[in-house]
Amino acid sequence: MTDPSAATVGSNQRKVFIKTYGCQMNVYDSQRMGEVLGERGYAVTQTADDADLVILNTCHIREKAAEKVYSELGRLRRLKESTGGALKIAVAGCVAQAEGEEIVRRAPVVDLVFGPQTYHRLPALLDQHARTGTAVIETEFPAHEKFDALDAPSSATPLKRGVAAFLTVQEGCDKFCTFCVVPYTRGAEFSRPAARIVAEARQLVETGVREITLLGQNVNAWHGEGLGGKEWSLGHLLDELSAIEGLQRLRYTTSHPRDMDEALIAAHGRNPKVMPYLHLPVQSGSDRMLKAMNRKHTAASYVELVARIRQARPDIAMSSDFIVGFPDETDADFEETMQLVREVTFAQAFSFKYSPRPGTPAAGHDAQLPEDVKSERLARLQTLLLEQQAAFNARCVGRTLDVLLEKPGRKPGQLIGRSPYLQSVFLDAGNCSVGDNVRVEITATGPNSLTGHMVDA
Ligand code: 5AD
Ligand code: SF4
Repeated sequence: MTDPSAATVGSNQRKVFIKTYGCQMNVYDSQRMGEVLGERGYAVTQTADDADLVILNTCHIREKAAEKVYSELGRLRRLKESTGGALKIAVAGCVAQAEGEEIVRRAPVVDLVFGPQTYHRLPALLDQHARTGTAVIETEFPAHEKFDALDAPSSATPLKRGVAAFLTVQEGCDKFCTFCVVPYTRGAEFSRPAARIVAEARQLVETGVREITLLGQNVNAWHGEGLGGKEWSLGHLLDELSAIEGLQRLRYTTSHPRDMDEALIAAHGRNPKVMPYLHLPVQSGSDRMLKAMNRKHTAASYVELVARIRQARPDIAMSSDFIVGFPDETDADFEETMQLVREVTFAQAFSFKYSPRPGTPAAGHDAQLPEDVKSERLARLQTLLLEQQAAFNARCVGRTLDVLLEKPGRKPGQLIGRSPYLQSVFLDAGNCSVGDNVRVEITATGPNSLTGHMVDA
């Protein structure tokens, strides 16, 4: 969905187009692929039409996400034919990891298949393909090797990331929620060392980044040796990163309720650079469903956790993920989810119909629910969540919020920034420019954005 930022494209230079599906981790991985290929003389282009290499960086989390890849491969087949076969096509990411050779069987147009842990080997894989002329499939799991390779000093300049950037600090998951493919596609939990993360953050800030979102499938499970040799958790890492001059905002996503430790909650309370916004998936409000999902927490423990977080940081806004129609979910279970939403109140949320994923325990469950039941529940839940989102946005009107200016708007003289709560805010630029953090009085709210004007600091 999001393309890595563009490098300047010369006329004879080889070009790569990277199309990204799914989560922010994939956006980050795509940027790093662009950098790895940059060292090999490739420039990133924004369209498949003039590319020599197209990479689809894929998502396997729900069936729809995976199917999109095959429709895109159908379109690319025609493009490849029009180049006489010169265009190379690669499938990367989680569909590649999960389906491997099956992709080439189903779509013979594909030249390369490689999983999320192997993209540092991309140049070698391209060489191998050039040598053999046959499809190359690489789905090993060496997460540490990937990060070692990417952490090594490199001649490549990082692609310009803009004002707000992602930084992967943790990858993989050992939680094995029964609906989820991540433990199979991204492998076991792995934390990058603190020193490397701090070094990468400094580098990003030097290129103009002002806000960093730390990424991980289970980011708050991050742990590692801190700079002083002591064991750190994410709260300590946030404190260390906030000492970087020029860095103004820190976020992290996605978290698991079980890993919200005291140090992390305390960091929200005392560290003004940690934004008062937290994405904390709960999935369901029914203890029966939570148990069947292997979430290892209850609805009550989630509500109590949110209360503790709000005690530490009263203005924090909560966001979450929900799954409706998990196998054997009854009307009563679903009502408990609605009840939890009413009790917690969310500023924003993502909700999905349960989608059976091959190889996961819940996919084999006998009591799969009919599609119309799932759709009806999803519609009801989304109505409630959207009401809460609209109410949260409406409560921002009249408040003065910090807004980090990220890009020019469509209208002349307009800039678009982000509030601490990740809302887009439109305003007249005045004397300010992209990268500035300004105080903005919010005057109006739309479905997905706020409007305001600058006030003196
Ligand atoms: N079906 C529906 N939603 C899913 N998610 C993960 N796996 C599935 C699935 N099989 C959702 C969860 C998770 C988010 C990233 O995607 O809500 O938090
Ligand atoms: Fe998937 Fe998140 Fe559960 Fe891990 S914690 S299995 S990534 S839903």
